[in-house]
Amino acid sequence: MSVIRSVGQWLEERAGLGAAVRPVMEHQVPRSSASWWYVFGSATLTLFMMQIATGICLALVYLPSADQAYDSLLYLNYVAPLGWFLRAVHFWGSNAMVAVMTLHLIQVFLFGAHKYPREMTWVVGVFLFLCTLGMAFTGQVLRWDQDAYWGLGIAASIAGRSPVIGESVVQILLGGPIIAGRTLTRFFAVHVFIVPGLLIALVGLHLFLVLRLGINEWPMPGRLVDRRTYRQRYEEEVHKDGVPFFPDAARKDMVAAGVVILVVVLLAVIFGPFGPGGVPDPTIIDTAPKPDFYFLALYAVFALLPPWTETMLLLLGPPLAILVLFLVPFIAGTGEKRHGAQRPRRCGTSAGGLRSSSRARW
Ligand code: HEM
Repeated sequence: MSVIRSVGQWLEERAGLGAAVRPVMEHQVPRSSASWWYVFGSATLTLFMMQIATGICLALVYLPSADQAYDSLLYLNYVAPLGWFLRAVHFWGSNAMVAVMTLHLIQVFLFGAHKYPREMTWVVGVFLFLCTLGMAFTGQVLRWDQDAYWGLGIAASIAGRSPVIGESVVQILLGGPIIAGRTLTRFFAVHVFIVPGLLIALVGLHLFLVLRLGINEWPMPGRLVDRRTYRQRYEEEVHKDGVPFFPDAARKDMVAAGVVILVVVLLAVIFGPFGPGGVPDPTIIDTAPKPDFYFLALYAVFALLPPWTETMLLLLGPPLAILVLFLVPFIAGTGEKRHGAQRPRRCGTSAGGLRSSSRARW
């Protein structure tokens, strides 16, 4: 212990990391936010770090070329020591990240955390959401099997229907007019460099905003969000009844982080890696490609659409939904109450989601 302490002191004297990190870890948060409802953001962050770690290990073995990718996955599944486990953790980790991030989005929305002054935190969050779905989609393509090939084919045919720019979008997406070797290289670069770089930068900005603006307090009936008074009232509440983020709030975040890691490892051990499911073969057209779970709902809805509505809704539906997500803080940002009972439309119930009495139990 004394060796560790003296190394720590040596580092602290020169780098001063402790002095920089301590104020961040011990910054005051509203006592009400030291709750299990607030763990989804840090749980998503934990899963993201897990994806980066397993992704780097996979990239050391995976061969991003059209004629070798499939075999390199089989090598990971059946030859490389713990290769199957690495692939499985990365697969279940990506599913878990999308699921937990969606829970985080729903929680911050239900708690009105998108309202003043956290509108920008929300907007950055929406970019994080799109990037994470982008990682999920490009990751599925890197499996380079029948599902990936035809799934990408469907995506390209939808993109190709865009008026005026359709052809260029397909060219950019596939790296040519058809799915070929260059397509895989392109998706590999997007999945391993471009989007992770964006995600890391956006998560940094997201957390900077969370620290700068403070964690949203528990929504209370009759508490209005007013630009003129909110910041001052928030500071007063945190000053009067705040707790240090570490250990009070961080304790629950760390338990949640441990739980999500455990769940992903258990899923990996029990169900193993997913695919690859059959060498990609454009001559096999009698196939029913299926996207991973996060796109299944979209896939199912589009399958039910009458054919004449398909192109219009395929091209307009998703962009409109994304636009609405971005506009949420600007549609209902200020001057409105936060508590569910005051936002029945948000909660879709007459009495609203959260009753203040439930807080005591937490
Ligand atoms: C990679 C994805 C994401 C990561 C790693 C992440 C991480 C975090 C973390 C660690 C916090 C601090 C408090 C908490 O845990 O709730 C937070 C807060 C927040 N996040 Fe995210 N987030 C992500 C995606 C999103 C998305 C998709 C949205 C919404 C569209 C969003 C909106 C917010 C908002 C508004 C806050 C402030 C909440 C508050 O003050 O209570 N985040 N995020």
